[in-house]
Amino acid sequence: MSLNNKKVLAIYYTQSGQMGEIMRSFTRPVMESGASVETVVIEPVVSYRFPWTGQRFFSVMPSCVLGVAEPLKPLFLKAHAYDLIILGYQPWFLSPSIPCNSLLQNKEFRALIKDTSIITISAARNMWINAFVRVSTTLRDAGAKLVGNVALVDRNPNLISFVTIFYWMLSGKKERYLNVFPKPGVSEKDITNAGEFGKTVAHYLKQGRWHGMQDELIKKKAVEINYRLMFIEARAKPIFALWAKFIAKRKNRTPWLSAFKYYLFVALFLGAPILLLLDAVLIKPFSSKRIHSKKLNYLQLNN
Ligand SMILES: Cc1cc2nc3c(=O)[nH]c(=O)nc-3n(C[C@H](O)[C@H](O)[C@H](O)COP(=O)(O)O)c2cc1C
Repeated sequence: MSLNNKKVLAIYYTQSGQMGEIMRSFTRPVMESGASVETVVIEPVVSYRFPWTGQRFFSVMPSCVLGVAEPLKPLFLKAHAYDLIILGYQPWFLSPSIPCNSLLQNKEFRALIKDTSIITISAARNMWINAFVRVSTTLRDAGAKLVGNVALVDRNPNLISFVTIFYWMLSGKKERYLNVFPKPGVSEKDITNAGEFGKTVAHYLKQGRWHGMQDELIKKKAVEINYRLMFIEARAKPIFALWAKFIAKRKNRTPWLSAFKYYLFVALFLGAPILLLLDAVLIKPFSSKRIHSKKLNYLQLNN
């Protein structure tokens, strides 16, 4: 059976083009099985220039964390309804990026996704869980059916990718910093491999039912949870919220954004390793059941 009568919308935002590459790889098998795939790129009215300057990069933190929406250019979709929507987004400051959050708040988009099956794909440095929880909650609030999730990350060690992402974001070059560090972002191998996840999606789309798809995606490692990163993200979330609320109220935000930047460096390079060590000795050994069920919650879309 082919998918000739199925309509799929692939919608995403990207600055570097990385999410575009991932979407192309992911949707190729869906197209090849005969579904019609319409691809739409989200464009804010006022674009977020790429590459960033250090100051502009941190200046978006309060709006990201507080979920402030910005106007988007009209989407001009070809259809009024789709059998499947694939949403590609990226976390910014542990939150959905402002363009993607703006789409999720958009009235027309919310009307479109009501009662519609959605698969989310994120491409992050490595901390995607909080953003995913916000995206999935917003989708459910709008009446959409979240049927699958794929989370692609930079697989290099946390502190290394922290350095290399800044090089990438501030230079615009997805290249090896100083020829010493590894390439930043989602690897070419993982981008190509996204096609394997697309094959799974094509299979379930053909069947017209989604039961079992996320389990198959988990088996294919389309989404994995690293305990240490999950631990750091969980601690960082309320602290980011405090900073964001505090800074959003300041008339002159510049010195406070700069203070946040230094906080982030100290928290990641000093605070996180100390907390992880304490956790490894005092809490983790006695919490394996709780940790396992938390991981499953995020993996199986029950969060
Ligand atoms: C302002 C900003 C904040 C970011 N914050 C995070 C973050 O909290 N967690 C994370 O894993 N990646 C973070 N990233 C990396 C992005 O999720 C993404 O991988 C990168 O921007 C490439 O996406 P693109 O497709 O838009 O080029 C951030 C990027 C930007 C620009």
